[in-house]
Amino acid sequence: MSKRVAIFISGGGSNMVALATAMRAPEFGAIPALVLANNAGAGGLQKAAAMGIATEVVDHRPFKGDRPAFEAALLAALVPHNIDIICLAGFMRVLTPLFINKWRGKMLNIHPSLLPKYKGLHTHQRAIDAGDRMGGVSVHEVTAELDGGPLLAQIKVPITLGETAETLAAKVLEQEHLLYPKVLKTFVNR
Ligand code: GAR
Repeated sequence: MSKRVAIFISGGGSNMVALATAMRAPEFGAIPALVLANNAGAGGLQKAAAMGIATEVVDHRPFKGDRPAFEAALLAALVPHNIDIICLAGFMRVLTPLFINKWRGKMLNIHPSLLPKYKGLHTHQRAIDAGDRMGGVSVHEVTAELDGGPLLAQIKVPITLGETAETLAAKVLEQEHLLYPKVLKTFVNR
C-alpha cells in the first residue's frame, strides 16, 4: 500500500513539485495526498492544485503566537487526508515538541546546509562568511531539536570564488530537488 504523504510549504514549493513529480512513478511507494501551507499566498499551492493534489491552508497569523492552537488546527486539517508521512519542504514555522512527538519517525525535513552546521536561517550567507569551501543540503528526520534530528542524507556543493548567498542558494536548490525524492523513496520503502 502506498504511503500517503503531506507536504508542508510556506513559499514557492519547488521541493514540493520535485517530491510530487517523483511520486508519480508507480514503484515509488508513496503518493502526494496533501499540500498544506501556513499562508494562502504560498506560490506552491497553485502548483499543487495544477498537479491535482489536495491543498489546505492553515494560516498561523490568526493564532497570534498560540502555537498549540495553531498545531491543533494543523492536526485537524490532516485528519481527512489519512496522512502517513509529513515532508517539511520550506515550511518556515517552528513546530513544538507536542506536534513533533505525534509524528516522530514519520516526519522529514530538508535544510539548506550541511547540518549540524548552520541550523536556522541565512544558511548560505553564514557558510560564505565563515569561509567554508562547501555548502550543501541535508535531509533529516524531525525531532524536537530544531534542525537536529537524525541525518538521512546530504549533498555537498562547492562554494566558489565570488559566491553570493543567491548563487549558492540556486546551486543548492538544484541538489535539493534530487536529494529529497531519493531520500523519501528510501524512507517509505525501508
Ligand atoms: C529550500 O531551500 C529549503 O531547503 C528551505 O527553504 C527553501 C524552500 O524552497 N528550507 C528551510 O530553510 C527550512 N529551514 P521551495 O519552497 O522552493 O521548496
